[in-house]
Amino acid sequence: MTEINHRRADHPIHSIFLERWSPRAFTGEDISEKELLALFEAARWAPSASNIQPWRFVYARRGTEHFASLLDTLDEGNRRWAKNASALVIILSKTHRVTSAGEVRPAYTHAFDTGAAWFGLALQTQLAGWHAHAMAGVDRDKAMRVLGVPEHFRVEAAVAIGRIADPSILPDDLREREKPSQRKPINEFVFEGRFNGD
Ligand SMILES: Cc1cc2nc3c(=O)[nH]c(=O)nc-3n(C[C@H](O)[C@H](O)[C@H](O)COP(=O)(O)O)c2cc1C
Repeated sequence: MTEINHRRADHPIHSIFLERWSPRAFTGEDISEKELLALFEAARWAPSASNIQPWRFVYARRGTEHFASLLDTLDEGNRRWAKNASALVIILSKTHRVTSAGEVRPAYTHAFDTGAAWFGLALQTQLAGWHAHAMAGVDRDKAMRVLGVPEHFRVEAAVAIGRIADPSILPDDLREREKPSQRKPINEFVFEGRFNGD
């Protein structure tokens, strides 16, 4: 079966799934607005419950005034390497919707739908020759404040987008971790007919 990045698929799949991974060593080179918008275009076509499209993205390209403020919302552990990204993105989802009668209703699938959009972006990023690295290590309250996010939205994660660099640019501890990770075997998370796992 296909083996890429020291990852072996036990069943036939497209190579993109093995090629995509989350590096921390980035070159810091510029990414154009046009290139970046093409990544969001891929996210745009994700499926969502009732087509509500609850995902929202706030981005900053390196070298622009907003980059420092987005970087500042990340945890220290992520700032260390994400500072070399070409673009940073904060992913938000709309948790509630207001009906025409003025009722506030929870959007049950907001995180699920936004996860689908993130993965569209991640795959397109890979296809375009860049890498995307998601981060849950974000100060959510700070991000809400700094980005001016209104009520009924949740900060889901941040993403660093960049062109992969030589791992030698990383501090020792991060350099050791700079390789594509493995996965559980399918029989640990796929069950026929009845749940049979932990
Ligand atoms: C929602 C989410 C949050 C993550 N948070 C962080 C993070 O805060 N810092 C980090 O270095 N990596 C983070 N990661 C990267 C994961 O550790 C990584 O995706 C996982 O180990 C699988 O490796 P791969 O993406 O290289 O295949 C996150 C990934 C996801 C999807």
